[in-house]
Amino acid sequence: MMQNRVLGRSGLEVSAVGLGCMGLSYGYGPATDRMEAVSMLRAAHDRGVTFFDTAEAYGPGDNEEVVGEALAPVRDQVVIATKFGFENGRPSDGLNSRPERIRQVADEALSRLRTDRIDLFYQHRVDPNVPIEDVAGTVRDLIAEGKVKHFGLSEAGPDAIRRAHAVQPVAALQSEYSMFWREPEATILPLLEELGIGFVPFAPLGKGFLTGKLKADTTFAADDFRSTVPRFQADAMAANQALVDLVTMIASEKGATPAQVALAWLLAQRPWIVPIPGTTKLHRLEENLGGADLALTDQDLARIADALSGIEVHGERYAASHQQFVNR
Ligand SMILES: NC(=O)c1ccc[n+]([C@@H]2O[C@H](COP(=O)([O-])OP(=O)(O)OC[C@H]3O[C@@H](n4cnc5c(N)ncnc54)[C@H](OP(=O)(O)O)[C@@H]3O)[C@@H](O)[C@H]2O)c1
Repeated sequence: MMQNRVLGRSGLEVSAVGLGCMGLSYGYGPATDRMEAVSMLRAAHDRGVTFFDTAEAYGPGDNEEVVGEALAPVRDQVVIATKFGFENGRPSDGLNSRPERIRQVADEALSRLRTDRIDLFYQHRVDPNVPIEDVAGTVRDLIAEGKVKHFGLSEAGPDAIRRAHAVQPVAALQSEYSMFWREPEATILPLLEELGIGFVPFAPLGKGFLTGKLKADTTFAADDFRSTVPRFQADAMAANQALVDLVTMIASEKGATPAQVALAWLLAQRPWIVPIPGTTKLHRLEENLGGADLALTDQDLARIADALSGIEVHGERYAASHQQFVNR
């Protein structure tokens, strides 16, 4: 039975593990066949997943359409999160979080998602050209109109989080977090604790690396974004093998898989953390959901913390062209 969690003080209750839907349409090579994708998403709901993550930028629009079609029959039983913030919904076209653009994305997302409300509407990246107070104020208005239920931020820094939260309480921050990227531990997690904001780690499996299924000589097709990421070049993957060895060792001791250890570790960090692993394959979805049932003891966690403190991760997590967008 899938447990639920509540995102901070927002009252928004979701399955302890959500589903990242991006890879069904975007980022990891060719899109999954639409009917297959729809049946995957419905199978996820049948297995207890009630938290689905999409964005205008995944496609653009394509992923919201698939999610909308899949979840229409169970709309009232699920929480759908989507995101605004890129010009034309294309990251390569730059940022745009101007109020009129946010409103346009909301209306288009509602139609693609076949619904009358967006449960959680995130700003995908902080836009330095638009005061965060104006962004929060626009979402506050959308909430007052009933089109949006909760406000979220993604890859926002501490100052932006505080300023946004003062205008419209933030239900969740979605930023990268895993054993492969632990930056949020220093200031972000304590800040979220203070403000009562939930945390939704994206790429909780380290974009696949922490599953142990990628080898140092794995190469990525040009339409797989990892082909441009320094951390996924052969040298870095070889240097980072110690992390895979760690999750693999803990997994074999616990009778679990490396992916399950990676997810259970995140869940153990705070009770208001809800990871959203992405997969296009039903058997992996089932495996990943098993991460919610894997209890790591204090002793396991202390051993992992100790091992992690001795591992230096090599390679940037994004291509240079995207680095400027994150954590500000
Ligand atoms: N806010 C943001 O800026 C942002 C950025 C990136 C992602 N996201 C969201 O976060 C979600 C998750 O991130 P992500 O998909 O990039 O990374 P992830 O969940 O860390 O990893 C996904 C990758 O791992 C593979 N995988 C999944 N489960 C596996 C398993 N049990 N065994 C082996 N391989 C497995 C997937 O391939 P298969 O499909 O072949 O299984 C895929 O290549 C996305 O879907 C998206 O919704 C948000």
